[in-house]
Amino acid sequence: MSDTSTAKPVLYSGIQPSGSIQLGNYIGALRNFTKLEKDYRCLFGIADLHALTVRQEPAALRKQTQQLAALYIACGLDPDANIIYCQSHVPAHAELAWVLNCYSYMGELSRMTQYKDKSARHSDNINAGLFTYPVLMAADILLYQTSVVPVGADQKQHLEITRDIAQRFNGLYGDVFEVPEPYIPKETARIMSLTDPTRKMSKSDSEESYIALLDAPDVIRRKLRRAVTDSEGEIRVDPDNKPGVTNLITILSGMTGQTAEEACASLAGKGYGELKDAVADAVIEVLTPIQQRYQQLIADKDYLAQVLNTNAERAAALARRTLRKVYKKVGLYQG
Ligand code: TYM
Repeated sequence: MSDTSTAKPVLYSGIQPSGSIQLGNYIGALRNFTKLEKDYRCLFGIADLHALTVRQEPAALRKQTQQLAALYIACGLDPDANIIYCQSHVPAHAELAWVLNCYSYMGELSRMTQYKDKSARHSDNINAGLFTYPVLMAADILLYQTSVVPVGADQKQHLEITRDIAQRFNGLYGDVFEVPEPYIPKETARIMSLTDPTRKMSKSDSEESYIALLDAPDVIRRKLRRAVTDSEGEIRVDPDNKPGVTNLITILSGMTGQTAEEACASLAGKGYGELKDAVADAVIEVLTPIQQRYQQLIADKDYLAQVLNTNAERAAALARRTLRKVYKKVGLYQG
């Protein structure tokens, strides 16, 4: 099927190559990509321009970009059927972001919780990119006339502002952009840190707080054994009073496909040690084949480069059509 076929709606999502991809990224996002892939024309971006909003070590950023490309494919996403590409390889992202900046307000951007969190954590580097981060994300999505955006709950606000910007622009210039819908399954939308289950699991926290998709089985077991729980000893879902245990149950059901109730029932009468072992077994079972495919892919740098190059061209061809329309609408002389 050609990339411009209109038979299927468009799905867009992205992940930043800013550290080790962790289990929250997998359960909250990647896993859903593979579930939805068949029903949509999909683009999966490696959001390397977004990663620059926090200081990155250049060599590490390049390496993490290759790793993320390999992980997308290792998780089961076909790079021929889908467009897996690097955001910085398609200049239209930065170009549309500039235009959309002129249709986004300081007030709405300053209300973004991620901006507030990140500027508190990186108080020595509150750069303008951090502030306009959601506008670049809106450009990513709107460039491709996207219908659905599968993300974790932490990106919900960014999806809302994307919709606001699209509607504002359409209100001024006619139907230029498709207004996208978020896809955020409630049960697995927020995987929490293993060391502080009141915070979300994040690749920018300490290594013990998350499980990286590339962690070895013994590391996964160790991190889960040390996961914070409570002193009650009862396995049940109760996010307010038992965030650690609830998180382990969520991870278990995310890995096995069981509901939280089924996961609890399978552990009736058992203790937290057994819960942690069950979670570790399930995580290792899912990650082992992904890690094996990843090792083959990462060994073939030429293949990865070729995938990213050809897919950037496919993405650029689609993006150009929207960008040209936008430029025309706002009055930029097209010759
Ligand atoms: P990023 O790289 O922080 O995370 C990638 C995806 O993983 C989800 N996620 C989680 N889900 C559940 N529990 C968690 N603990 C958890 N941690 C992360 C995120 O919600 C996200 O879906 N701004 C985006 C990247 C991006 C993007 C886009 C996404 C750039 N352009 C366009 C969608 C559409 C980000 O920083 O994700």
